[in-house]
Amino acid sequence: MDATTGTTSVPEVNAGQAAAWNGHEGTHWADHHRRYEAVNEGFDEPLLDAAAVVAGDRVLDVGCGTGQTTRAAARRASPGHVVGIDLSAPMLDRAGRIAVTEGVANVSFVRGDAQVHPLPAASFDVALSRFGVMFFDDLVAAFSNIGAAVRPGGRLAFVSMRPLADHDLGRVLAALAAHLPGPDQDDAADATDAADGGPFSLSDPAVVRGVLTTAGFTEITVTPVDASQVWGRDAADATEFLAGWGPIRHALDGLDAAIVTRALDAMRDELRRFEESGAVRMRGAGLLVTATRG
Ligand SMILES: C[S@@+](CC[C@H](N)C(=O)[O-])C[C@H]1O[C@@H](n2cnc3c(N)ncnc32)[C@H](O)[C@@H]1O
Repeated sequence: MDATTGTTSVPEVNAGQAAAWNGHEGTHWADHHRRYEAVNEGFDEPLLDAAAVVAGDRVLDVGCGTGQTTRAAARRASPGHVVGIDLSAPMLDRAGRIAVTEGVANVSFVRGDAQVHPLPAASFDVALSRFGVMFFDDLVAAFSNIGAAVRPGGRLAFVSMRPLADHDLGRVLAALAAHLPGPDQDDAADATDAADGGPFSLSDPAVVRGVLTTAGFTEITVTPVDASQVWGRDAADATEFLAGWGPIRHALDGLDAAIVTRALDAMRDELRRFEESGAVRMRGAGLLVTATRG
């Protein structure tokens, strides 16, 4: 397997996602990886426990991004090995550097589209993902491809997003969107609620079960999991960070400066409600999914 970053052996089918994650979205994640880690790391323990990674395991981290879960899995799997696969060159570049800095040697990173990338057959004991499996334009094809890389009887575990209304962030985005003109409000909703290949494509347990069953998985469990997410030191800091996050940046792009100011002020006011002990803490809502490769 190609253990370098920056190469891909097949055309990516999810072209829009590839453009986003190799453009502003991916660069923002790479440049602010510690902030995104503080947002999402509360899901790691439930995820890794559900994945039941043990010493010697061969693990695939799908949509690994800057590799926080890849490294965490590698520490549990040692002397086993973890491969992180992702579309995003800037995020994988960061993942490779952090692994070196942290002395995590039993990882490698592959740039490719997990929906179609020719992964070696039946070569992993576990496939896992933290919010990296919701963006496929063909979920069944993607999980079939991932499943083929897992040995029969091997495990799948991932965390996907529950509907936005279940997240505290939903209130914050609603406060922002209330100040946007009609079409931009719709854009903001689309950016955060994309049904096809978007972050909420696996928010319905029935859809999750249907996709995984069709893709050949058995013993499927779907359990709600919440985590405390740190979005910044205070409301002003969190607002600055969120204003650069892809969906919000997209919704504000090209708008009159006065509208942008009003929208960000409203978002900052809402974020103040979540300030506590030197941090903005909000509840994030995931679905923890496990399955066995049939
Ligand atoms: C929300 S981020 C999560 C990143 C990382 N798992 C984390 O928790 O920090 C989604 C990740 O999925 C990746 N991704 C999206 N579509 C993909 C695909 N078809 N194949 C591989 N990676 C993909 C993105 O590049 C991005 O790194």
